[in-house]
Amino acid sequence: MLPRSPRWIRHLSAARERVEKPRFIVEGRLTRMVGLTLEAVGCHAPVGARCLVEGPDGQDIEAEVVGFSGEKLFLMPIGRVQGIVPNARVTPTGEAYDVPVGPALLGRILDGGGNPLDGKGPITHTHRTPLTGRNINPMARQPIREPLDVGIRSINALMSVGRGQRMGLFAGSGVGKSVLLGMMTRYTTADVIVVGLIGERGREVKEFIENILGEEGMARAVVIASPADDSPVMRLHGAALATSVAEYFRDQGLNVLLLMDSLTRYAQAQREVALAIGEPPATKGYPPSVFAKIPQLVERAGNGDSGGGSITAFYTVLTEGDDQQDPIADAARAILDGHVVLSRELAEAGHYPAIDVEASISRAMTEITRDEHLKAAHRFKRIYAIYRQHRDLISVGAYQPGSDPQVDEAIALYPQLTRFLQQGMNEPVSLAESISALQGLCPPEPEPEVAQSAPVPVTVVPAAGNP
Ligand SMILES: Nc1ncnc2c1ncn2[C@@H]1O[C@H](COP(=O)(O)OP(=O)(O)OP(=O)(O)O)[C@@H](O)[C@H]1O
Ligand SMILES: [Mg+2]
Repeated sequence: MLPRSPRWIRHLSAARERVEKPRFIVEGRLTRMVGLTLEAVGCHAPVGARCLVEGPDGQDIEAEVVGFSGEKLFLMPIGRVQGIVPNARVTPTGEAYDVPVGPALLGRILDGGGNPLDGKGPITHTHRTPLTGRNINPMARQPIREPLDVGIRSINALMSVGRGQRMGLFAGSGVGKSVLLGMMTRYTTADVIVVGLIGERGREVKEFIENILGEEGMARAVVIASPADDSPVMRLHGAALATSVAEYFRDQGLNVLLLMDSLTRYAQAQREVALAIGEPPATKGYPPSVFAKIPQLVERAGNGDSGGGSITAFYTVLTEGDDQQDPIADAARAILDGHVVLSRELAEAGHYPAIDVEASISRAMTEITRDEHLKAAHRFKRIYAIYRQHRDLISVGAYQPGSDPQVDEAIALYPQLTRFLQQGMNEPVSLAESISALQGLCPPEPEPEVAQSAPVPVTVVPAAGNP
């Protein structure tokens, strides 16, 4: 009779596991390095796997498998590359990319790999979550129903943002993106703010955190910074990490505001990776995989399938030379639920935030606003547009007051409308204040009187041609 004690059974099943799942790791070696692309042979690892390349002084360099050709694996380093030699050993780690998340992240600043940058010691996390997120069945996603107060008067009133909505912030350089994102971080009513600073200048990261966010903004924020001098794979990871952190807080039932600066730099990082491994460029040098990556990232934001949490996201899109036809801007416009356009003309005139209300739109606004609010917003935009259309005539004195009552009204109201649109950097405006200010400025239009007109006489014109 064989012994059947639980200890014996445990011992046997542990032995079986060891026999059934041998973890052989096949090491390869480096055969080529061109630019940042490493080619390895002899090892097997799937695309997206993490590998260690033997560096100088026994220090390993982390790299990610980004493609393959026949037996060759293409890798891209994640950190800095220095001192890599031919035939260096390449070891797949066999581990998936997952990132630490937990409430301890609040108030912290991380790099694209999830390591702290703020010198406040290691992060005690409670969870690990995959960098690529989990898929949500589109049928199970909660719809956008509630507005989110972003603390900016013109956005709250004229292009209201819903919880779970994904917006684009389209702007050229230096027109006030960072200040606007900082204001939202400080004044929004969202529970947690996740800021992804991807591919921007390193100097700007410190400035953004110290001058724009400040202590107040940092308290309920997590910042992930992967500046322009990080490797492209690190920058891609930075954007994915920011999204994973936002997903974690959403799954805790919280309302998260995710601010990603910028989606264009994310696309450029993917372009660098794709071109380096030989993908052909398509539109403006961007290979097709870039246009597949953008929706993959953006679709992770939004409402969850359960738990009631949401990720409302703003992605900045750089319109270089204020070119609105940029392929990334086009792709972003198609996938996002609305856009806020910042205008250089307004910024140059000292009108901040430089939001072009005519070009900006929130596609979820009708779902989340009351009728009176929506009517007031439409009226505001109409009066504003009438003034802008006649601006040249008015400014040269060619418009005769009294010739069009709508233009007269627009001229009278315009100074108040522009004051309404402007907001100082240190001035929070709540959603309720924004709506009541809008309704005060643009009360409902009186119902048009139905005039009793005489019947129009009909004249019959004989048709030309043969009688
Ligand atoms: N609400 C505001 N009130 C007053 N000044 C503002 C406001 N917003 C922006 N500015 C001015 O605009 C300047 C540029 O803003 P910001 O740095 O946010 O631009 P940016 O679009 O992020 O630039 P970059 O493309 O260089 O990142 C600021 O230094 C500030 O002087
Ligand atoms: Mg900026």
